[in-house]
Amino acid sequence: MTYAEVIGDPISHSKSPLIHGFWLKALGLDGDYRATHVTPEGLADYFATRRADPDWLGCNITIPHKETALAFVEDRGGVKQSIGAINLAFRSDGALVGTNTDAAGFYAPISGLDLAGQPIVVIGAGGAARAILFALSRVGVGPVTVLNRNPLKGAALLASFGLKGDALKLDAPLPPAALLVNATSLGMAGQPPLDLDLSPLPDDAVVYDIVYAPIETGLLKAARARDLDIVDGLDMLIGQAALAFELLFGAEPPRDRDDELRALLTS
Ligand code: ATR
Repeated sequence: MTYAEVIGDPISHSKSPLIHGFWLKALGLDGDYRATHVTPEGLADYFATRRADPDWLGCNITIPHKETALAFVEDRGGVKQSIGAINLAFRSDGALVGTNTDAAGFYAPISGLDLAGQPIVVIGAGGAARAILFALSRVGVGPVTVLNRNPLKGAALLASFGLKGDALKLDAPLPPAALLVNATSLGMAGQPPLDLDLSPLPDDAVVYDIVYAPIETGLLKAARARDLDIVDGLDMLIGQAALAFELLFGAEPPRDRDDELRALLTS
């Protein structure tokens, strides 16, 4: 039977097998999706072995392999230069192609917003922030304020995507913004909270948290208390998986069943 998988170290926490398994079953497809523990030392062997396996369709790639896996794939979309990390390797015309579905997965839930020229706030300057700033740079947003523990990293990210804006420390007051995104792990179960004063945001601002455990983070609670529109981390998680599913299994996932899938992911 053909199969795909997600690789990482650690990997047991991954929700990807649940998501892809749900869609495979919903579509009645004959395929499997599993989680496989691969260490950094085992990465080269992993790709060599899997390439020779005709049943292997490809893999999602997570921490800590998102950058190093670039060495084992064809980078047809110039991902190395843009986002600098891949989260998917899939077979295409006999080649193993690497791509990144995080940026598009992030953007999908907010694609209805007109962000052109709009001021944006992004919290964080790590790998997730990179994919998010890449996506935002493509839609011509206005000035971007990056708040990060280490503002130098924020400044470097803004420069690398040609974005105008400021890089400030995490405790700087928020500027008004049409969209605020948390791209750190702050607010995740077991991590420190993200305490922000949201009062500078206008009433029509959207607050987006990429953290999905818990689904309603302290940030989203504060946004809800202000009656702001919110996007939660499951939206991005499901969005990036949907693009990966199409590239791996060649079928569109049944997004009309997202409510069921969200219930499964939170049960
Ligand atoms: P990911 O790939 O998930 O983005 P990452 O590249 O390690 O992971 O980035 C994590 C982000 O969360 C960074 O912006 C990090 O801040 P620094 O760039 O200053 O390291 C931020 N972060 C993580 N833990 C934090 C904490 N306890 N306080 C403040 N920021 C934190």
